[in-house]
Amino acid sequence: MKTHLIALLYAVFTCSSTDGRQFLGPQNGSQDPVSNDAFNQNKVNVTQDSRHQPEYYGYERPCPNAEDIAPCVCTYDSEDTTMSLNCSAVESEDQLRQIFKSYFPFKNYRSFYIKNNNNIKVLESGVFNGISFERIDITYSNLEVIELHALDCCYETASEINVEVNRITSFPFHELSIFSKLSNFNIGYNSVSIILADAFNGLTALEGLQLYNNQANIVGTFI
Ligand SMILES: *[C@@H]1O[C@H](CO)[C@@H](O)[C@H](O)[C@H]1NC(C)=O
Ligand SMILES: *[C@@H]1O[C@H](CO)[C@@H](O)[C@H](O)[C@H]1NC(C)=O
Ligand SMILES: *[C@@H]1O[C@H](CO)[C@@H](O)[C@H](O)[C@H]1NC(C)=O
Repeated sequence: MKTHLIALLYAVFTCSSTDGRQFLGPQNGSQDPVSNDAFNQNKVNVTQDSRHQPEYYGYERPCPNAEDIAPCVCTYDSEDTTMSLNCSAVESEDQLRQIFKSYFPFKNYRSFYIKNNNNIKVLESGVFNGISFERIDITYSNLEVIELHALDCCYETASEINVEVNRITSFPFHELSIFSKLSNFNIGYNSVSIILADAFNGLTALEGLQLYNNQANIVGTFI
């Protein structure tokens, strides 16, 4: 990992004034692992009719009631039997918090998505209320602050945190080392001013680190 990080850092420092995407994980359609197409293709078609038939899949339908979590949308992937939540249409911090107070039959989700959302500026502490994710993907939105413990749902589950292209000035970097499975962290294209290298040093699973386009001072040494 050491070598890998050094290579990435080299890229961070050398390309921060150019287009970081070319060096650090291009996010264009063909390569983006969470492109909408890929996400939508494998999805089971959970219709209104099936909502009231728990035996539909042979066991309790894992998604919460659609109306309880609207405008978030829960999808179930029958191939890898995982669920994901898309909250791109959420209208306020308060609404997001209320949604996670709904009854969730299963608590472990694959992905949480918000994209192209102008309404959520603060990801509030404890907002996910015990629902966990392996991937947190809040991109191309207006997020400014991720509060301490906002991501406490996912210390043991998150392998990927992607908050690329927001207006983040405040991220709880010193909480990062708690994420035991974190392998990809992307906070590129935000407004973070100081990044403490120390925050990443305990992350033994880390493979991809993208900090580009933040005008950030990176303080300390990556080891
Ligand atoms: C998308 O990624 C591929 C592979 O890196 C690259 O060749 C292509 O130019 C990229 N396209 C855009 C629109 O950035
Ligand atoms: C999430 O929902 C929005 C509509 O609110 C849609 O445009 C987008 O494609 C969805 N994204 C994914 C990954 O399903
Ligand atoms: C989803 O359900 C609709 C309406 O029942 C149906 O027309 C469509 O073919 C279904 N799609 C898939 C992928 O099963």
